Amino acid sequence: MVATSLQHLRQPKYLIGLIVLLTLATIIWLLTQPIGLEKLPDEPAEEIGWTTEPIQPIPIHLVLDQRKVQLGARLFSDPILSRDEKISCASCHDLQAGGADAKAFSIGIQGAVGTINTPTVFNSHFNSRLNWTGAFETLEEHLDTPLLNPTVMGASWDDVLHKLQRNAEYRHEFSSLYPHGLSVDAVRDALTVFQKSLYTPNSRFDRYLRGDATALTAEEQEGYRLFKSYGCVSCHQGINVGGNMFQKFGVLGDYFVNRGNLTKTDTGRFQLTGKEEDRFVFRVPSLRNVAVTGPYFHDGKAETLDEAITVMSTYQLGRSLSTDQIRCIKSFLESLTGEYQGKPLKAPVGKVGAVRILHGSRISSHAG
Ligand code: HEC
Ligand code: HEC
Repeated sequence: MVATSLQHLRQPKYLIGLIVLLTLATIIWLLTQPIGLEKLPDEPAEEIGWTTEPIQPIPIHLVLDQRKVQLGARLFSDPILSRDEKISCASCHDLQAGGADAKAFSIGIQGAVGTINTPTVFNSHFNSRLNWTGAFETLEEHLDTPLLNPTVMGASWDDVLHKLQRNAEYRHEFSSLYPHGLSVDAVRDALTVFQKSLYTPNSRFDRYLRGDATALTAEEQEGYRLFKSYGCVSCHQGINVGGNMFQKFGVLGDYFVNRGNLTKTDTGRFQLTGKEEDRFVFRVPSLRNVAVTGPYFHDGKAETLDEAITVMSTYQLGRSLSTDQIRCIKSFLESLTGEYQGKPLKAPVGKVGAVRILHGSRISSHAG
């Protein structure tokens, strides 16, 4: 049989037929391929709608005014914005290290120790609310908080404008980009445009979502399957694998009683609304790049992803996971690490030595 068909193939008639068939099949295959965003570089985030998964890929490219991005980048790393001219946004949000720092609590001006873990600035534009309590909806609204907070950068807008005004390069850049030159609005705008540029596309998981089945190992795919079937995805979902809803920390168990040392910060959105149902409620954090943004949780208590996954399955799902299941979920989470300026994000160097002082006004541990 085999010999006969091979003989057939040697006849020119059959050979031409086969080539025509193969060419046709290739054309049909090409025509039925989904158009990847790679081929539409200027497509904005909103245009992605073709995946039916609960998580959507980060756009490959966003259209932003690159000169504003450059100016904002400079402001973001410039300590002159802070009152003592020693702290910049990048002091706590290190772009070479996952967009945060490796500490449980960051240090602001004059050594002030924060009371809540610093989240990454990468992809925060895709969160529907900002900060752990979700107090802000946009990057513009959020900006005054770090800048003016006396324990973060302790600045005042007058002071910031005055200092930037003294710098000829800043004066020149602002007047060439903004009709009214240097102003509060212009500084706000440049920093906002820059923060929008801090997105991390092209993680292996996103490549998988876009149709490259080989982008994830079998273990990572199993991790994603567990993440969905166990219900992690009911809270961590959307483009940022989180960042789009409020949930209680400790749905199925009292995390805080077991941890001890309850602080005001632990009460979450209750601080904003005063409503009992908001006690211990937080904006669900994004899990994009989570492998490089430890330590975890608003209290920075979980040093490793294994710890964080265990806490989540215990207190959010009331389930205990096997070491194999934890390993698979962790591998899946590691596949969420994306690229900034074409390079994969990296974890901060020397993650040890994190500041672990629980700071904040203490309230009785049985409150709530
Ligand atoms: C001293 C450390 C520190 C400095 C300096 C700092 N931040 Fe932050 N940043 C934090 C902490 C802590 C939070 C979380 C605050 C909260 O949830 O209450 C945060 C939250 C954020 C968020 C919200 C992220 C999200 O997805 O929820 C953005 C955006 C941000 N900072 C941008 C900036 C910018 C811009 C600057 C400079 C103007 C800046 N930060 C300076 C520590 C810092
Ligand atoms: C009911 C909602 C809910 C479910 C289900 C849930 N989470 Fe979470 N997750 C949260 C909230 C809320 C936080 C923030 C807790 C805090 O720090 O206050 C969080 C935080 C995390 C963090 C830490 C992120 C960071 O940057 O600090 C990780 C990792 C995480 N979750 C993974 C998972 C995994 C894996 C599962 C499934 C086993 C899961 N979560 C299930 C709501 C949920």
